Amino acid sequence: MIKTGNKIFILYTLHTTYAFRIMDTGCAEHLYYGRRVNITPDENGISALTEKHTFAPGNTVTYDKDSGAFSMEDVCLELSTTGKGDMREPAVMLISSDGSRTGDFVYKSFETGSDISINDSGMPESRLCDEQLVITYEDKNSGASLQVCYKVFEDEDVITRSVKIINDTDSDIIIDKLMSLQIDFDRPGFKISSFTGGWAREMNREDTVLNAGKFVVESRTGTSSNRANPFFMMSDADTNEDAGDVYGFNLIYSGNHYESISVSSFGKTRVLSGINPEGFSWTLHPSDTFVSPEAVMTFSHRGYNNMSHHMHAFVRKHIVRKEWQRRKRPILLNSWEAAYFDINESKLLKLASKAAEAGIELFVMDDGWFGERDNDAKSLGDWTENKKKLPGGLKGLTDKVKALGLKMGIWVEPEMVNTDSSLYKKHPEWCLAIPGKVHSEGRNQRMLDLSRPEVVNFIIEEMTRVFSSADISYVKWDMNRVVSDVYSSVLPPEKQGEVMHRYVLGLYKCMKTLTERFPEILFEGCASGGNRFDLGILSYFPQIWGSDNTDALSRAVIQSGYSYGYPLECVGAHVSGSPNHQTLRRTPLESRFAVASFGSLGYECNLCDMSKEEADAIKSQIELYKKWRNVFQDGIFYRGRSFADGNINEWTMVSRDRKAAVGMVLQDLVKPNTQYLKYNAKGLLSDVNYRFTNRELKYDIRDFGDLVNTVSPVHLKQDSIALDVIAKLVKMDGEEEDITVSGDVLMHCGVKLKQAFSGTGYNEQVRFFPDFSARMYFMNAI
Ligand code: DGJ
Repeated sequence: MIKTGNKIFILYTLHTTYAFRIMDTGCAEHLYYGRRVNITPDENGISALTEKHTFAPGNTVTYDKDSGAFSMEDVCLELSTTGKGDMREPAVMLISSDGSRTGDFVYKSFETGSDISINDSGMPESRLCDEQLVITYEDKNSGASLQVCYKVFEDEDVITRSVKIINDTDSDIIIDKLMSLQIDFDRPGFKISSFTGGWAREMNREDTVLNAGKFVVESRTGTSSNRANPFFMMSDADTNEDAGDVYGFNLIYSGNHYESISVSSFGKTRVLSGINPEGFSWTLHPSDTFVSPEAVMTFSHRGYNNMSHHMHAFVRKHIVRKEWQRRKRPILLNSWEAAYFDINESKLLKLASKAAEAGIELFVMDDGWFGERDNDAKSLGDWTENKKKLPGGLKGLTDKVKALGLKMGIWVEPEMVNTDSSLYKKHPEWCLAIPGKVHSEGRNQRMLDLSRPEVVNFIIEEMTRVFSSADISYVKWDMNRVVSDVYSSVLPPEKQGEVMHRYVLGLYKCMKTLTERFPEILFEGCASGGNRFDLGILSYFPQIWGSDNTDALSRAVIQSGYSYGYPLECVGAHVSGSPNHQTLRRTPLESRFAVASFGSLGYECNLCDMSKEEADAIKSQIELYKKWRNVFQDGIFYRGRSFADGNINEWTMVSRDRKAAVGMVLQDLVKPNTQYLKYNAKGLLSDVNYRFTNRELKYDIRDFGDLVNTVSPVHLKQDSIALDVIAKLVKMDGEEEDITVSGDVLMHCGVKLKQAFSGTGYNEQVRFFPDFSARMYFMNAI
């Protein structure tokens, strides 16, 4: 709901309120964003929220001679610029035709409605908002118009904001900086939680309390990056998962982004988010427009979990394209870690047939199937099957995979080219490169220049040809290089600052056209894992490979990180071999499954090399997942304890009707002589009784080492054939949990689990729980 008064604007969602007004100068004052309060949109109604100024502070500049009472430096603004007294970092910086950088945006008009589109740029945007407010300002200096569009999503408690510049002058204007989001808070001291990392260690939450100075989250990789995701939170110092005030922010953008949180010398906190201004500039010719990415914001006074629920609901309903909303995601087997580049039809079919036996639904042929692609130095760009590896081509393989009862998926990396490829030989000028200069290297490949329409068309037509050459149900769209040597040979020198944003627009054109041409294909984004995990990609591709790191312990941290801003069915998560290929850590198969099942589940290991026990275990995991898939993929996710607090990571996923739930506890290292562990559920119905169970697990006696001799009538040597034979015949029964308990008790007291093994005895009443163990618990309302 949007209420307007005389130059007063109040935006309401179910639990939040956002308010601003236009001051006498024509500049906009931000009044409030937070927990829902009712504000009457008139002078009296906002009187408590406006800043009171009688004399401007010393050593400041006042807006003009008639506004001597205050300086723009010490007021919360809705739209900031530079040169009129505000000494803080500005949201907008334009260079006028006379070279001046001063901006002077004053209110002109407003419009409300439910489908006013300011987006004429091909940028992805959220869909189906309840109401919109567009405020138009005029820059008295450059003459440009600026529109701020607010979209209100009531049920999801989300408000979005994007900005458009319209050059209605007859000279060029340069956009030096244009932030999508600005919020000025009237206090310092927020705890900022950002999500940083690198390859194979994405999305680590880092908390920093900011009382002065500036904190920046940004990417320069050409992507939203694994270095710093555009999602971040700001909360009170004592906010936790289930209580306290927290703001969540994100940006629907897949390129270089910039978020800054700074505290002014007057103790006010300014938050900005948008395209990274570093290396960016855009020339707006007369009558041109430029639209910023859409920024997303939410607030909760009920802690991080509730803030995440707002974001999850928003992504599910307003970002993910309609064909894949609430649609069952198939369980897949990906060939990468099983075979890397060493693939051929017979090997792939062996894997696929094992996958079919296990109950897997989709077979994905990863890298290595085209051109001369035997390693990462060759053939990107040459999207024709290697006939030695696939004698029947993509179609031949696909038909055979389908005959096994599986759907077929393939891997592509359309934005890239190896210099050792036919495409590069034909079109070296299609790459981002500075003519005549030595190029930096990254995975032996170059980025195609997606700012060129003919390159975008080539990608679209090549991919259309590939995706229609066989019955392809799934595409993994990879992107494995960070940008260097940014230069487009078709843009003039003064427009080189436009290249990276034009690249992103070109990418969106590819994604939009291809998802429209192939709406039923499930696309999974990937960029060396999570180097481009953002709402821009999710607008077209409903899931993204979360990390090349498939180690269960690492993944628990990475997936927890994603879960703050993104629903977990958007995160591709696979069970891989052990020792893990990225960490060499050995983890139980059950732990790998437990962690992966909270994302979009897949397997990425050599099923042909599995023992019968492992194959049986995988089969039973898949049966179980299919029964619980709806809860996992459509449920409401809660974080409990995390490795940041100790050695347990605890998650719960609750069905939408809250009558079924799955919980997981994952342990880091064993603490000796600690038998006690409790699992606390979240999100259940208090006054409903649930049956709480675990699943039947059997353990290999070899996992008990030499201790077998404490019960064996004959002495058994470690690693002996005799022990191997007995291990095949005799299994240790795992502990059973089966109680009926109210939702209230499950949530507020928790369940004290069967005691863990701690060196003093073992039977089926004891939880076998060595390093890196996990348990899944199932709750069904009675
Ligand atoms: C990087 C991806 O993240 C991997 O999963 C795999 O697809 C390789 N690229 C293939 O080259």
